[in-house]
Amino acid sequence: MTDKPANSMWGGRFTVSPAEIMEEINASIGFDKRMAPQDIRASKAHAAMLADAGIIEKADAAAIIDGLGKVGAEIEKGDFPFSRALEDVHMNVESRLKEVIGTPAGRLHTARSRNDQVATDFKLYVRERIDGLDAALAALQLALVRKAEAHAGTVMPGFTHLQPAQPVTFGHHLMAYVEMLGRDRGRLADARARLNECPLGAAALAGTSFPIDRHATAKALDFAKPTDNSLDSVSDRDFILETLAAASICAMHLSRFAEEIVLWSTPQFGFIKLTDKFTTGSSIMPQKRNPDAAELSRAKVGRIAGAFQSLMMVMKGLPLAYSKDMQEDKEVAFDALDSLALALAAMTGMVDDMQPQAAPMLAAAGGGYSTATDLADWLVRVLKMPFRDAHHVTGRIVAAAEADNLPLDKLPLPAMQAIEPRITADVFTVLSPENSVASRISHGGTAPQNVAKMAASWRKRLENAPPKG
Ligand code: ARG
Repeated sequence: MTDKPANSMWGGRFTVSPAEIMEEINASIGFDKRMAPQDIRASKAHAAMLADAGIIEKADAAAIIDGLGKVGAEIEKGDFPFSRALEDVHMNVESRLKEVIGTPAGRLHTARSRNDQVATDFKLYVRERIDGLDAALAALQLALVRKAEAHAGTVMPGFTHLQPAQPVTFGHHLMAYVEMLGRDRGRLADARARLNECPLGAAALAGTSFPIDRHATAKALDFAKPTDNSLDSVSDRDFILETLAAASICAMHLSRFAEEIVLWSTPQFGFIKLTDKFTTGSSIMPQKRNPDAAELSRAKVGRIAGAFQSLMMVMKGLPLAYSKDMQEDKEVAFDALDSLALALAAMTGMVDDMQPQAAPMLAAAGGGYSTATDLADWLVRVLKMPFRDAHHVTGRIVAAAEADNLPLDKLPLPAMQAIEPRITADVFTVLSPENSVASRISHGGTAPQNVAKMAASWRKRLENAPPKG
């Protein structure tokens, strides 16, 4: 086999092309081509700045910017000849630009390196994805808020240790996720704010001797400012790590909610029904309705948190500045961001689709002696018992009800009075699950009026501040 000629981008010093396996391990075009729009945008800003600073001719910059537009259109149309020999998206775009416009293309790479280029492109890409995730999170919040408003008074059992604990409302339970997703959005917004400094112009690692205007390129690319240290600019991957950390926490939240959807939709719970839109059947068991979308959303946290872990291990121990190790940042990040976006969309669809079943939820809420705390509170409030004594008396009453196989609100008054003679019929006003939830009016409590108020205030916030994405 004869050797192929050297790479045209650095052919000056190289005489033959890399070994096949070298090309395979080295190339990133297979995955980084999805950053082509960001690469083109950043290159246009760089070319314009070079001309404004008098580093290249205005006519050359115009030809470069026009040519980049054409290359971008080819990529968008899907008829761009991506080449593995050209390694990555940066060299693919530049090499095609040369074919399209000729000599001026060679001036584009003045005062920059692929090191600051890739950092800039990736930041632009991640920033857009954060905006998209923020919009998806807001959409899921709104779906939850709407369901919660419709079910502010729908009583269900609340659990601790997955044992029936105290009655809550279905709306309250859904609103808990609205709060979590709100914090997820906050974490992503923090990551976005710290990310928003432009590395372009840091060049390979040391800056450049050309009189570039980094503030101009930062502004053109909607960054708050240029980064302040050239070494840090090309070796920092905090922005994607931080985004993946926020994404992992968010995916963990979705996983918990997905697990509840799986549980609630079992015949044993029967709290919700999902339609054919979000379930699958079994090829052998005709009665089955499987919540596959919920199960897959529950699972996505594995690859998302895995991506975070994977990149942490890549970055650990890397000396400054750029090392090729850092090319490993993209595949895991793309996969994690895609997975989170998909899970968010699926969860939003399921929230819209789910039909809460009020009767089984209420029946379950009354079981398991879930109003025992209400009884103890009544003993404290009305009979002025210390809570610890009330807890003890209630325990004995629950045991009596259990022995007779009765729910608490069906145990006859004399049976209660046998344990505590001062109990009156007034106690029955607190023993039903409906009365229990109605009494939880403390800030953040589950009383239907609280839930309705919280949901309405969230809806206003969500409707009045549409996210960027
Ligand atoms: N494809 C590379 C990456 O993703 C671009 C930067 C290459 N820089 C270099 N000096 N080889 O990291």
